[in-house]
Amino acid sequence: MKLTIIGNGVMAQSLAMGLIKSYEVEMIGRDINKLKAIKEKMPQIEIKQLEDKEDINGKNIIFCVKPFALESVSVRLVGTANILISILAGTRLDYLRKQVKAKNYVRAMPNIAASVLQSMTTVTGDLESKDIAMKIFATIGQSVWVHTEYQLDIATAVAGSGPAFLALVAEALADGAVKAGLDRHLSTQLVQGLFVGTASLLKHSHPSFIKDSVMSPGGTTASGYSKLEECGVRNAMISAVNEAYNKACELAKK
Ligand SMILES: NC(=O)c1ccc[n+]([C@@H]2O[C@H](COP(=O)([O-])OP(=O)(O)OC[C@H]3O[C@@H](n4cnc5c(N)ncnc54)[C@H](OP(=O)(O)O)[C@@H]3O)[C@@H](O)[C@H]2O)c1
Repeated sequence: MKLTIIGNGVMAQSLAMGLIKSYEVEMIGRDINKLKAIKEKMPQIEIKQLEDKEDINGKNIIFCVKPFALESVSVRLVGTANILISILAGTRLDYLRKQVKAKNYVRAMPNIAASVLQSMTTVTGDLESKDIAMKIFATIGQSVWVHTEYQLDIATAVAGSGPAFLALVAEALADGAVKAGLDRHLSTQLVQGLFVGTASLLKHSHPSFIKDSVMSPGGTTASGYSKLEECGVRNAMISAVNEAYNKACELAKK
């Protein structure tokens, strides 16, 4: 089966890096030089410059441009795609149906970890395409199907944006170690290992159990943890997810 990715940005490339392991992948973009540079990194993919009348008839499209570019790209698409999978944040299925002709429509929210086959992807849309879409995203990590776009927009805020939120935590933890006097390279290495180990624990344990297991009475963790609460880290995370969700809703109104 061949997948056609429209767009050649960060997400398009992350998806392609994972998908080329299981599918034929064609990438369509407006800048041939960027496409050529991508082909040098991923020789298996086909590249194609977006034409004024780009024939998408019968293709399985993964749409990866910015939400604001949807109209300017969709006016150039002719024919009826077999399936249109959009990863555009906050862009509703109803709107996609008006913009691009396809037999079935799906919205998916992968994250940047697709490039290392570890995306946490949320998917919704026409039930006829559920199996094919879930199969595609299973090749680049874990995926869950939700029944409403409301759920998908919340998933966008937590799992789509999440790598950036966790990257901030990772960077800050390393900065803390540097501030205490540890070399930067050691601090970074420790934090990398910390995230890998904690991710494994999270597969089997509730976060509060992990926290209670580490925090002994009057100990070092309890001291550090109370500082996190004092600084409002928990509330900052809750607010970050809610702000990102509000932004997705704002995009949907356009
Ligand atoms: N970044 C993430 O972690 C993430 C996660 C989940 C979903 N998403 C969604 O993925 C989509 C792409 O995000 P991204 O981070 O990959 O953005 P990006 O790196 O900026 O890539 C955007 C792509 O859109 C193309 N584009 C922009 N304006 C265009 C136009 N007028 N005509 C044709 N092509 C145009 C760009 O082409 P040029 O290279 O020629 O400028 C580029 O290929 C967004 O809708 C976003 O909501 C992103």
